[in-house]
Parts: sequence; C-alpha cells; structure tokens
Amino acid sequence: MPTLKILKYPHPILKKRSKEIADLKDQTIAQLIPLMVKTMLEAGGVGLAAPQIGYNIRLIIVNTKEGVRPFINPVIVKKSLWREWGEEGCLSVSGVFGVVKRHRKVEIQFFDQYGKRFALKTSGLMARIFQHEIDHLDGVLFIDKAKNVKNTSVYAEKI
Ligand code: CO
Repeated sequence: MPTLKILKYPHPILKKRSKEIADLKDQTIAQLIPLMVKTMLEAGGVGLAAPQIGYNIRLIIVNTKEGVRPFINPVIVKKSLWREWGEEGCLSVSGVFGVVKRHRKVEIQFFDQYGKRFALKTSGLMARIFQHEIDHLDGVLFIDKAKNVKNTSVYAEKI
C-alpha cells in the first residue's frame, strides 16, 4: 500500500473549508481511510485530516486508546469552559511548534465508515488532538492560534 503525500503550509487546500461527506459508504472514502492511517503512522503523527492529503472532505484519522480510527463528519457538540495551553505541532507545518489554548474537554459526534453515528467524550491531550484535527476541516492551522511559535527546522538541519 502506498502512502500519500502530506501537503505542507502554505498549500491553499489547507486553508479551505472542507465539505461534509454525504455518502458515508462511498467507496472512495473506504479506500482513503487505510491509506490515511498508513500515511499518519509512517509520518509519526497522532492525527491526520483529509485536507492534509489533498481532499477537502470532513474526514479525520485519530490514534485513540482503542487504536487508529476514522471520524467522519465530526462535530464538537459540547465543550468545557475551562481551556488550557499546550504544545502542538502539525505534519503540514514541519519543524514548527507552538502553544495553543484549547478546551480541556470536548464531546464529539461523528459517523464511522459503516454509517453508524457515535458520540465521544474526550479530555486532555485527546480533546486537544480532536480540536486540532477538526480545525483542519475548517481551514484553520494551529499556527493561526499559537503563541511562542518556534521553528526548529533550521536548527534540525544543522545537526
Ligand atoms: Co495538523
């Protein structure tokens, strides 16, 4: 199975709002999911959003405690008032890290690849990952929200 090319900032696809997936059992989606899983794992990521591999559709892959799962048309339906800062990076913004304020807890509704609807309550790092990935579906990158942004790529190349 090949891996997909991860688009890098400032690719215009990363800045577009992605469309809802109307046909949850679409063959293209079914084929895309394992490719995205492989691409994410080989790149060492904990999450990957479809626009990062060139598709402006509302599909994300997240490495959860239960394994790597697809989340189709994910929506944040509840969020805690409590927000906290935490460091983030992104496979589409190589070598860059920054701290982003995120909701401590979020509840997500989504569909799986079989068209079944689920709700998931998540907190801490997992909640952060979902907020980061769902932002990708709205054309928002963590660097749009981050403070104390560090670019380590120049330094890394010198080692
Ligand atoms: Co990202």
